[in-house]
Amino acid sequence: MTTPLVEARDIVKRYGPTTALADGRLTVLPGESHALVGRNGAGKSTLVTILTGLQAPDEGTVRFDGEPAPTLADRDAWRRKVACVYQHPTVVPELTVAENLFINRQPLSRGLISWRRLKSEAAALLDTWDVHVDPEARTADLKVEDRQMVEIARALSFGARFIVLDEPTAQLDNREIERLFARMRGLQDSGVTFLFISHHLQEVYEVCQTVTVLRDARWITTAPVAELPRAALIEAMAGESIEAIAEQAVQERLVDDNAPVLLQAQGLTSETYENIDLTVRRGEVVGLAGSSASGKVELAEAFAGLRAPTGGTARLDGAPLRFGSVPAALAAGIGCVPRDRHDQGLVRSMSVGDNATMSVLGRLGRFGLIGTDRRRGFAAGLIDRLDIHTEGPDQPVSDLSGGNAQKVVMARALASEPRLLVLINPTAGVDVKSKESLLARVDSAREDGTAVLVVSDELDDLRRCDRVLVLFHGRVVAEHPAGWRDHELIASIEGVDHHG
Ligand SMILES: Nc1ncnc2c1ncn2[C@@H]1O[C@H](COP(=O)(O)OP(=O)(O)OP(=O)(O)O)[C@@H](O)[C@H]1O
Ligand SMILES: [Mg+2]
Repeated sequence: MTTPLVEARDIVKRYGPTTALADGRLTVLPGESHALVGRNGAGKSTLVTILTGLQAPDEGTVRFDGEPAPTLADRDAWRRKVACVYQHPTVVPELTVAENLFINRQPLSRGLISWRRLKSEAAALLDTWDVHVDPEARTADLKVEDRQMVEIARALSFGARFIVLDEPTAQLDNREIERLFARMRGLQDSGVTFLFISHHLQEVYEVCQTVTVLRDARWITTAPVAELPRAALIEAMAGESIEAIAEQAVQERLVDDNAPVLLQAQGLTSETYENIDLTVRRGEVVGLAGSSASGKVELAEAFAGLRAPTGGTARLDGAPLRFGSVPAALAAGIGCVPRDRHDQGLVRSMSVGDNATMSVLGRLGRFGLIGTDRRRGFAAGLIDRLDIHTEGPDQPVSDLSGGNAQKVVMARALASEPRLLVLINPTAGVDVKSKESLLARVDSAREDGTAVLVVSDELDDLRRCDRVLVLFHGRVVAEHPAGWRDHELIASIEGVDHHG
């Protein structure tokens, strides 16, 4: 029998009243890519913090190669064993790639940092692992996929051969995901072992050999992916049959063709898109699809006040829209789920309830006074409707799991009962079952007449749109009414079906 590369047993981890892990177990064999899946709040990221030595479990043991894990204080020993690459960068954005690779261990020449050697050693390191990134580039300017590769190269340079990827694909488009997987397979061939976390179950089948399922803080099963088909995997995660889950899905409904136009944009132009005309009717859901470079996110951000186009106009319900101001967008009745919940989405130090109701204080309070009870009651309703896994409205959002934080962002956007809802990758990091409840909330908003603009890389989000516009290099190249086939939409996203 092979000694496991990593073995965690009987792991218990509590945070005050929350038991994040009650029976965490994981056995990863050397050389495999091992998936860790489970619903939002199941305990996946908590297990990762324990496997990477960021915190000690309350109970249980971790072993690497049969040896007990280092003590928490021995950071160097941990770095030689394991590293985690998150959605959110752990590199310093203001530094160059080379500086990030050798931070705190810069090559010295007579006691001074040798910039020339720093650069050449970084170039050699990137070259060894076949990472095509300029060592002198500012890390903040890198694309997400390149930044992830730099982080992986850094981990490997410390000697670690076990890499945890916690939802690495949530911010990537299809091609970028394929490139990441190609890199993973290449590294796996050279002896690197991966623990891979994702809510996109098809990716688990594509890139992993083994899968472990956690549910409600407990280990449920570990099996070769070939022996756990999708339905069985979902059942293990959700604890109920997929038939039962499917019944909870909402019926699709299309917009009334005579509904009045709510949003009308003309000739919108910026660095990333050009001459875009767009209309969205009351109660209509319009999807925007395209690769990362298509300009779809930038266009949607313009409507939410996050960016100002350089040309063109837009009207909401007849009134001209002021660009470049989030407060103006909010005042005009535009709710937004932004691309990055860390940077643009939430105030991490504030409670779940305060974050969720932030946009509606004016409406909840009479004469400027906000009834605390009223606000808590309102927040409790949102928590319930969006199925947010939390101790209650008073818990700080920083305590929530990734997917549950995303649901708070959605709760806040919906709370203001917006006229226009701009959703940017709204289900990123949200588990299969929660996706349904989240999209069901969008459906009830549209029934109340809200116009919705959805930017997404996920076909499941786009499938529920009345129509999907595809952007390619900043121009609308195709429009697909509801009922499109996957391959048709993918072809226009990839730019293989346009005839000039
Ligand atoms: N620092 C913390 N303080 C309090 N509770 C926490 C803390 N970190 C995590 N939790 C709780 O532990 C539970 C497990 O969270 P964890 O982040 O491990 O979930 P996850 O499986 O990674 O979910 P997701 O898929 O949404 O990322 C959640 O209920 C979460 O609210
Ligand atoms: Mg997580």
